[in-house]
Amino acid sequence: MRTCYAGQVSEKLLDQTVTLMGWAHRRRDHGGVIFIDLRDREGLVQIVCDPDRPEMFKIAEDVRNEFCLKVVGKVRARPAGTENAGLTSGKVEVLCHELEVLNASVTPPFQLDDENLSETTRLTHRVLDLRRPYMQNNLMLRYRVAMECRKYLDEHGFVDIETPMLTKSTPEGARDYLVPSRVHDGMFFALPQSPQLFKQLLMVAGFDRYYQITKCFRDEDLRADRQPEFTQIDIETSFLTEEEIRSMFEGMIRHVFRKAMNVELGDYPVMKYADAMHLYGSDKPDLRVKLQFTELTDVMGDVDFKVFSTPATTKGGRVVALRVPGGAAMSRGEIDAYTEFVKIYGAKGLAWIKVNEVAKGREGLQSPIVKNLHDAAIAEILKRTGAADGDLLFFGADKAKIVNDSIGALRLKIGHSEFAKANGLFEDRWAPLWVVDFPMFEEDEENKRWAAVHHPFTAPKDGHEDLMSSDPGACVAKAYDMVLNGWELGGGSVRIHRAEVQAKVFEALNITPEEQRIKFGFLLDALQYGAPPHGGLAFGLDRLVTLMTKAESIRDVIAFPKTQRAQCLLTGAPSNVDEKQLRELHIRLRNPGAATAA
Ligand code: AMO
Ligand code: AMP
Repeated sequence: MRTCYAGQVSEKLLDQTVTLMGWAHRRRDHGGVIFIDLRDREGLVQIVCDPDRPEMFKIAEDVRNEFCLKVVGKVRARPAGTENAGLTSGKVEVLCHELEVLNASVTPPFQLDDENLSETTRLTHRVLDLRRPYMQNNLMLRYRVAMECRKYLDEHGFVDIETPMLTKSTPEGARDYLVPSRVHDGMFFALPQSPQLFKQLLMVAGFDRYYQITKCFRDEDLRADRQPEFTQIDIETSFLTEEEIRSMFEGMIRHVFRKAMNVELGDYPVMKYADAMHLYGSDKPDLRVKLQFTELTDVMGDVDFKVFSTPATTKGGRVVALRVPGGAAMSRGEIDAYTEFVKIYGAKGLAWIKVNEVAKGREGLQSPIVKNLHDAAIAEILKRTGAADGDLLFFGADKAKIVNDSIGALRLKIGHSEFAKANGLFEDRWAPLWVVDFPMFEEDEENKRWAAVHHPFTAPKDGHEDLMSSDPGACVAKAYDMVLNGWELGGGSVRIHRAEVQAKVFEALNITPEEQRIKFGFLLDALQYGAPPHGGLAFGLDRLVTLMTKAESIRDVIAFPKTQRAQCLLTGAPSNVDEKQLRELHIRLRNPGAATAA
């Protein structure tokens, strides 16, 4: 039997005999003495194999990287000067008495401590990649986070109830993963995009407080913070107000940071959606970046510069400035690079003013555009931005969405640059916040209709019910998102619990009564049996852990993730299947050659 983990051997065990099991991380032959770094999930310890014990030494000579070993030995202090402060076991080593190779290993395709492995290599050889301390730490933290969530939820009376994976299409707005039915020719299950409707049904059923740490499936374009299957900490509760729900789950995230990371989260501002868009052009602002938009739409209508005056006088247009304190030191090359950058987001250009001397007014400014601006406009720009000598002002002018996207992205790009870090424009801290009062609907320009911003079961603010038909764009929802360091960590809403209000929302969304019956009949029926007021939210566990570990990608906190192209390089999924299986499922391929070639 093992007496402890290799990574836990410390000076507390001095002079004791320990039995360890693990892997040979590194083996060094120092002419006469062999050192093996023995690794297990808790860390490393140095094993010293001395030729005094010839039988053991002979085995040590044949040990290679990644052999699985059993070591029995005595803990002793390392000789002065050879301590390693980076390891729990850094002050000690184990003098090996007995060594057993539990299993040899073929030569691994890469060194486990190679920091420059490509992601393809890592995902193809995921088992070895998972042996690396980095991945071990990430997944261990993930476990602790999930466990602390469970503890908090349990203490607050939430019960874990499973919901189906083979189900009907759920309305979270992404494409579904479909599963063909063998029994029902031509019919399909959908994998859930979230347990949304089931958790609402559980509230109607009287369970009062539900949670589940569960997989969700969404076939959408993948990015660094998205996976086709990901894990939600999914929660629903009856009889709590919006504020009570937020406070309870702010409490949960605070608890998790405290217990799993020993971090006290500080201030948790509550920001209205409209304010977030106004100041940051984003509904998930990264508050570590100390740059803000200055609104100029209302003062640019009459300038002799069409780039500004057209959006300022067109419905849905916006003109803003982004003040970068100290930015006048930037070179033309840097400004040109930022101009190219904003074009990715649809901006047509990036006007700028270097503020050399505010006191000199127009004369103190250097810019390709001031010649087009009248004195009053210049004075107002300087006043509103609070510009000081040495600042740089960037401008975005276009449809509001393009301005928000492009100048929002520019704010982050500059805000995360070395320049920002050196000039105090970036604060390295945990910056959580709530974004609240989302609009109920947004215009789906392509299909010329209204779409739900959150999902169609979200309740409107009290008093906003009639706006759903008279002015859908002005209708505000009881919806909220939790944002951390610029990532949407979770989101939810108070739900509609009355069938007649639900019908109004469907009407606003142009979903016909027939469609309502087919898609959501079971929910509408349930709402008729005294459904309680209820609401909830879901956190992205993968995102939460990615932020906590400061990993670069969500894939670094998932044991077996998919690539950006939605494939598993380890197992080779998705893969083609044989004709018999397809026939049983009543499926004929449209393009059979494509599947064989893949
Ligand atoms: P929503 O769609 O906002 O809400 O999802 C909740 C949270 O899940 C995470 N998330 C993802 N993480 C990784 N990869 C993805 N593809 C992905 N998509 C979403 C995010 C997000 O904040 N049923 C509602 C919740 C509710 O109203 O209670 C829902 O699913 O962190
Ligand atoms: P132009 O008159 O088109 O040469 O543009 C003058 C300045 O305005 C240049 O610095 C452009 O980069 C900038 N510019 C052009 N279009 C926009 C826009 N939509 N928003 C912000 N700046 C712009």
